[in-house]
Amino acid sequence: MLRISGLNAGYGGGTVLHDVALTVEAGRIQAIVGRNGAGKTTLVHAIAGLLRPYSGTITVSDVDLAGKPAHRIARTGVGLVPQGRRVFASLTVAEHLRLALAGRHNPMWTVGRVLDLMPRLAQRLGHRGNQLSGGEQQMLALARALLTQPRLLLLDEPCEGLAGEVASRVREVIAGLAAGGMTVLIVEQQLHHAIQLADRIAVLDYGRLIADEPADGVRADPAPIEALLSIAQRR
Ligand SMILES: Nc1ncnc2c1ncn2[C@@H]1O[C@H](COP(=O)(O)OP(=O)(O)OP(=O)(O)O)[C@@H](O)[C@H]1O
Ligand SMILES: [Mg+2]
Repeated sequence: MLRISGLNAGYGGGTVLHDVALTVEAGRIQAIVGRNGAGKTTLVHAIAGLLRPYSGTITVSDVDLAGKPAHRIARTGVGLVPQGRRVFASLTVAEHLRLALAGRHNPMWTVGRVLDLMPRLAQRLGHRGNQLSGGEQQMLALARALLTQPRLLLLDEPCEGLAGEVASRVREVIAGLAAGGMTVLIVEQQLHHAIQLADRIAVLDYGRLIADEPADGVRADPAPIEALLSIAQRR
């Protein structure tokens, strides 16, 4: 579904991502973990077209999207749940959902379907963004992305700052989406947010992918990946 090779990207001529290569099969959950500043958001933004890569290819269903404008990439079926949720303080939940769905014909994801998936939002339709809890804001950010009808969902630290129980509810929803065929790329700073959920776990360190392993092996013995992350932390 997603194939990245030789990806170099950064800001103002400085390079943040160095020669990143990654393949994610359809319906799988690929996690990328890395410390603060490792380049996780830069990677997600390069895929979503919010940042133009210097070089490399990014194909989604065999269509090369590297350097294409964000709206075109979104239309190809790439949905982004941005870091920090980015919901509008003064818009209600219902308004967020209506805006996200505007102008789509015969959508697979309707407002009814996202509310069935996240019933908590159904009870908060009249609440404004700034009246929602962190968990509710995360659900809203996810609902909004689903209404753009993605086949590939990019999630930038969806569990950041959420209490344990709320974070596990968010992970349950993401796992359910993948079970239904969605391809998911999730980036997290902390391994524990990704370890139960992912099919594969990669480590990004100073903009380089330094590991990419089946998650079963990491669950059985997380020590090698934890060691890589703690070395990254100390550098
Ligand atoms: N808009 C920008 N302009 C210049 N440099 C940037 C910009 N955004 C990020 N960077 C730099 O790129 C590097 C990677 O940042 P990025 O936001 O991708 O990290 P991250 O892994 O998402 O970190 P975090 O876990 O804190 O969200 C950092 O050195 C950061 O300072
Ligand atoms: Mg980030």
